[in-house]
Amino acid sequence: MRISFSACKQAQPLQVNIPGGLNMDQFILGRCRKDKVVIVMGATGTGKSRLSIDLATRFDAEIVNSDKMQVYKGLNIITNKVTEEECRGVPHHLLGIVEPDADFAAVDFVNHASTAVDSITRSGRVPIIAGGSNSYIKALVNDDMEFKSKYECCFLWVDVWMPVLHSFVSERVDKMVDASLIDEAREFFDPEGNYSCGIKRAIGVSELDEFFRNESFLDYDKRASILEDATDKIKANTCKLACHQLQNILRLRNQSEWHINYLNATEAFLKRGLESIEAWERLVARPATRVVDRFLCEDDVNFMSAIALPPPIYQIM
Ligand SMILES: *[C@@H]1O[C@H](CO)[C@@H](O)[C@H](O)[C@H]1NC(C)=O
Ligand SMILES: *[C@@H]1O[C@H](CO)[C@@H](O)[C@H](O)[C@H]1NC(C)=O
Ligand SMILES: *[C@@H]1O[C@H](CO)[C@@H](O)[C@H](O)[C@H]1NC(C)=O
Ligand SMILES: *[C@@H]1O[C@H](CO)[C@@H](O)[C@H](O)[C@H]1NC(C)=O
Repeated sequence: MRISFSACKQAQPLQVNIPGGLNMDQFILGRCRKDKVVIVMGATGTGKSRLSIDLATRFDAEIVNSDKMQVYKGLNIITNKVTEEECRGVPHHLLGIVEPDADFAAVDFVNHASTAVDSITRSGRVPIIAGGSNSYIKALVNDDMEFKSKYECCFLWVDVWMPVLHSFVSERVDKMVDASLIDEAREFFDPEGNYSCGIKRAIGVSELDEFFRNESFLDYDKRASILEDATDKIKANTCKLACHQLQNILRLRNQSEWHINYLNATEAFLKRGLESIEAWERLVARPATRVVDRFLCEDDVNFMSAIALPPPIYQIM
């Protein structure tokens, strides 16, 4: 069912109990006037950045990062920050802006993200919030009353079947090691062994502690073997993070009022080359574009519940 903006104005007050004494008419009008925000969720490695940049190039949009490690300066490879080339000219906010040793909590995210979303909206563009830190998204979208009163959100969830994602992120760790993961991490090696604050919490730093402690005393073979153990630990911890993020999304989907649009990217990860690009386009980019297009163009307050397709019963392995 589609309701146009004018239909919203004519809607009759319904006997619905809305906190604050608003009647349904005001409620609907308020909803119609809300600015729109797109939210891209998903576990690490599923392609949130890729999808948000795809969308930003199709709509006039800017991206607000919601990954709690990517907000920090440094560790660009370890934390998987998008490269300038990958950005395709799309402006990114909250990416590499915080000093590495600073505390940055959900409340700081809410403040920074609200400011960014306000300014993007004022410039007439669409804010796309993308990142793996679901607690940050919940703090902003669910718990911040001001944000809730101003914005209406469209949720997109990019999912990859866990065994496929695990093998993808493991390969990604090997590629990071071949790039300069070790040199990046060395900069944050802490002789005190304290990896509990700032960017040092990123997966890939504490795992290399033993390697940095001993590398200068050991022969080539022994070094290689400690490095392999560290790499295995980084892979295991990344897979654990992905499972944890998936569970959080399922919990949010269950407990919040959000209608999360499900996009299954698994096939794109199983294929290679052009076939993979085609599968991504067909299963992720195009359906997401359609959802966002309708979300931005229509004032139908029932819109999200009308189109959101719940995924099949999800078995976490
Ligand atoms: C680790 O470092 C942080 C910040 O410098 C400090 O607040 C904390 O007490 C330290 N933890 C330990 C166990 O030394
Ligand atoms: C590395 O050094 C620490 C002490 O600094 C020692 O306890 C540990 O056993 C060493 N590890 C290896 C693999 O040699
Ligand atoms: C969702 O909620 C139902 C009922 O409250 C519960 O049985 C189920 O385990 C929950 N699922 C998740 C993934 O939290
Ligand atoms: C996602 O797609 C893959 C491959 O097509 C399939 O095996 C998997 O069951 C799907 N996941 C869900 C939750 O639908």
